[in-house]
Amino acid sequence: MIVVTGATGQLGRLVIEQLKTKVPADHIVAAVRDPEKAAELGVEVREADYDRPETLNSALAGAQRLLLISGNEIGERVRQHTAVVTAARQAGVERVVYTSAPRADTTSLFLAPDHKATERMIRESGLPFTLLRNNWYTENYEEGIRQAARTGTYLGSADEGRVASAPRADYAAAAAVVLTTEGHGGRTYELAGDVAWSFPELAAAISAATGEEVAYRDVSAEDHRAALTTAGLADAVADLLVALDADQANGLLAETTGELKLLIGRPTTPLAETVRELVGRG
Ligand SMILES: NC(=O)c1ccc[n+]([C@@H]2O[C@H](COP(=O)([O-])OP(=O)(O)OC[C@H]3O[C@@H](n4cnc5c(N)ncnc54)[C@H](OP(=O)(O)O)[C@@H]3O)[C@@H](O)[C@H]2O)c1
Repeated sequence: MIVVTGATGQLGRLVIEQLKTKVPADHIVAAVRDPEKAAELGVEVREADYDRPETLNSALAGAQRLLLISGNEIGERVRQHTAVVTAARQAGVERVVYTSAPRADTTSLFLAPDHKATERMIRESGLPFTLLRNNWYTENYEEGIRQAARTGTYLGSADEGRVASAPRADYAAAAAVVLTTEGHGGRTYELAGDVAWSFPELAAAISAATGEEVAYRDVSAEDHRAALTTAGLADAVADLLVALDADQANGLLAETTGELKLLIGRPTTPLAETVRELVGRG
């Protein structure tokens, strides 16, 4: 049996969809914080809240493989993930698969510390594991892409820094492969899109999709932050977005490894295709 946590999230839903194409639906369990949100997934649903360890033992009972989708509360995740891995050990899970971040053990990426600590905790647990170090989702740029399609300007502070993103569906397909096939124990996969792109190239892709002129406007981190807060974003969100652009400017997201393509057996989805879908011209 394969258990997927966070199965009502955007990535989790896609993983369940992919798994259903590979194994019978009654071999899949969606372990979720809010079972009501999972009714339409078409698989068994169990309650699993990272903050309520008492839900985790029953959620993982009988699990052979577990996909632990990282939580989204930065700073709380190591405690949450530890609760899940503790329950996985008690349940006798044969392999835990974890969604991590690029080069999590050595990078200076702003978002890496929770992932680095979780990876270490998983190694120390003694459970067989597979680490899926996912580069960024192309959909992370959805709001900026839509706004640029409306205004003709994509604003950022990443200069010409590149990001080897891929859409969530590509990472979900890789997770489904790793959960349903052999030979992945102890492996760490650096998963990324086949092509690393820059914001000027993103602006060109938006322009091609809409048929309208779109330009990238690079600003200082300070001006970027001010523009985001003026647009109504909370300070913490603006800080995060500016930090992510700095990581991109510094080349921390630019590595194209080819490992995602190898796992899914096809090229990753090109930026232009996702942009067309996001602006409704796909
Ligand atoms: N590589 C990237 O570019 C990137 C970008 C953003 C995030 N991430 C990471 O990848 C994960 C999956 O991405 P996503 O786009 O699917 O994010 P998402 O849509 O926000 O999904 C996060 C999932 O985590 C679940 N969750 C949060 N706190 C929980 C808790 N206390 N107990 C149980 N479940 C909990 C959520 O449950 P509910 O459905 O009940 O809300 C949701 O299903 C994120 O959580 C984050 O760690 C990666």
